[in-house]
Amino acid sequence: MEFFIDTGDLNEIKTAYAWGFVDGVTTNPSLVAKTGKDQAALIREISEIVDGPISAEVISLEADGMIKEGEELAKIHKNVVIKLPMTKDGMIACKHFSKKGIKTNVTLIFSANQALLAAKNGATYVSPFVGRLDDVGQTGMDLIQEIRVIFNNYGFETKILAASLRHSTHVKDCAMVGADTATLPFKVIEGLFNHPLTKNGLDQFMADHAKSKK
Ligand code: E4P
Repeated sequence: MEFFIDTGDLNEIKTAYAWGFVDGVTTNPSLVAKTGKDQAALIREISEIVDGPISAEVISLEADGMIKEGEELAKIHKNVVIKLPMTKDGMIACKHFSKKGIKTNVTLIFSANQALLAAKNGATYVSPFVGRLDDVGQTGMDLIQEIRVIFNNYGFETKILAASLRHSTHVKDCAMVGADTATLPFKVIEGLFNHPLTKNGLDQFMADHAKSKK
């Protein structure tokens, strides 16, 4: 299972990447806006830190604009993955990039049929948004499970990149249902380390060690 960090914050990326199990980065227009940086400059900086897939999202809503923007973004670094919205124009751009061997991540996936269309157009990743479905009273994790079944049925190589994950249980459930990748905010990654018994056990070991030195 791949882990990506979902942020544009370079300090978060550096810290999490140093832990060793982070494989790549996802960004979106909201995350880029938070940094106050130009997207191309930010993606270049990220590519100097992380040797793995880096998703950069297009802003255009028309296929021609998406293709133009995506081709410019792809020139920044070989690891750049072009993030496209799940729209009719997004699908035209997705097909274009798959034919050219440029990696894509189709985002804003909220149904299994949307994921199926993206897979048929050769998307490298689909990003189903688990937390945002939970927010509107659906069980987001059911979508990951449905897409897993469909992709397995037909042998699609498109990876399921579970997105909008909000807590450690989401991560464990994604692993249980077979998501290929999970993209996680920094706080969620940090939360994965925690268990009270680990902390208590370590405190006890250190206390016993200190006593034995006296
Ligand atoms: C995915 O690529 C998105 O950047 C992200 O996971 C969305 O998460 P949110 O619903 O917490 O904004």
